Amino acid sequence: MDQSKFSTKLKKIDISGIRKMFESAGPEAINLGLGQPDFDTPEHIKKAAISAINDGFTGYTEGQGILELREVLVNKFKRDNNLLFNPSDIIVTSGASEALQIALASLIDQNDEILVPNPGFVSYKALTDVLGGKSVPVPLSENLTLNPDELLTYITPETKAFIINSPSNPTGGVQTKKDIRDFAQIADDYNITLISDEVYEHFIYEGEHVSPGIYSDNVITINAVSKTFSMTGWRLGYVAANETYINQMLKVHQYVQACASSISQKAAVAAINGPIDDVIKMRKEFQRRRDFLLKSLKSMGIDCVEPKGAFYAFPYVGDDYLNIVSNLLSKGVIVVPGSAFGDKGKGYIRISYANSVENIKLAMEIMSDVIRH
Ligand SMILES: Cc1ncc(COP(=O)(O)O)c(C=O)c1O
Repeated sequence: MDQSKFSTKLKKIDISGIRKMFESAGPEAINLGLGQPDFDTPEHIKKAAISAINDGFTGYTEGQGILELREVLVNKFKRDNNLLFNPSDIIVTSGASEALQIALASLIDQNDEILVPNPGFVSYKALTDVLGGKSVPVPLSENLTLNPDELLTYITPETKAFIINSPSNPTGGVQTKKDIRDFAQIADDYNITLISDEVYEHFIYEGEHVSPGIYSDNVITINAVSKTFSMTGWRLGYVAANETYINQMLKVHQYVQACASSISQKAAVAAINGPIDDVIKMRKEFQRRRDFLLKSLKSMGIDCVEPKGAFYAFPYVGDDYLNIVSNLLSKGVIVVPGSAFGDKGKGYIRISYANSVENIKLAMEIMSDVIRH
């Protein structure tokens, strides 16, 4: 078809590399490419959603999100993150994805620069470019986290914002408290915005989660129930910031989304207010799998920085990484090539351990075979 009818901005964007992997997989494949927990949504959350439907809570809600949920989120931020917000500082979104979109849309003018981690979550670059901005990849340091001093060297007069993601997809890296403080300081010193994507905050095995919003007002905090409560399909996220930011973001949110799903909002109230036991169980299980996976990789002589959070390992397998990925695929194991997350991901693969130990074990046996040949 005639390509000239399409937006030139879209020409810079490829269909997500991760999706490509999913689509080429057979039904029996062991999927270590997944970016979602392999657990069911806890029962009490499902019940809340069913009640919402039965009670006829099925219409549009307040654009910003129901007050009940925003009040629950105010408490959550205080309890988990030491962040003080009012309900008016929060927008409930359709997943963290929409939160990222409206945050970036509220900031970007043509050719404004947004610094993104390289390798980093795929949406940062794609959304920036679609919005007419310029994504500027900042290489991670050797321990696969973002170094504040390195980030500084990428700031120009065009820089509008930078994105941090701790714990990180795809590396599992967790930024230290000092890093987070430094990032907040950079945002203040240069009067730019720090977008903090905290969707994996509850999956940390070493270190602690620190929200930069405790240090600076130039921070947009993004989170979701997606990963924490195994609710990726419910499409429920949230963004919190100083009301001045929120008022700008609302302008985009009301036109692209109107409001988040009414049913999912009620479910999120139950999730965030409810017992944390299921989350702790998941975290313990992820840690068990991570330890097993790291041991297996080590026994194969594969170099892997120990991931301290999320549910991904990001081992370095060498220049032959694309062949390794396709050989694994042909033998029924899905992993994602590191290059899907930016050019500095070349040579790496992302292995998600959101799968059973049995499957990880099987996949590692196949990998051992693939590596040797
Ligand atoms: C770092 C990161 N941010 C945001 C998202 C999107 O989350 P949601 O499903 O809530 O839109 C993901 C999903 O994989 C992610 O890994």
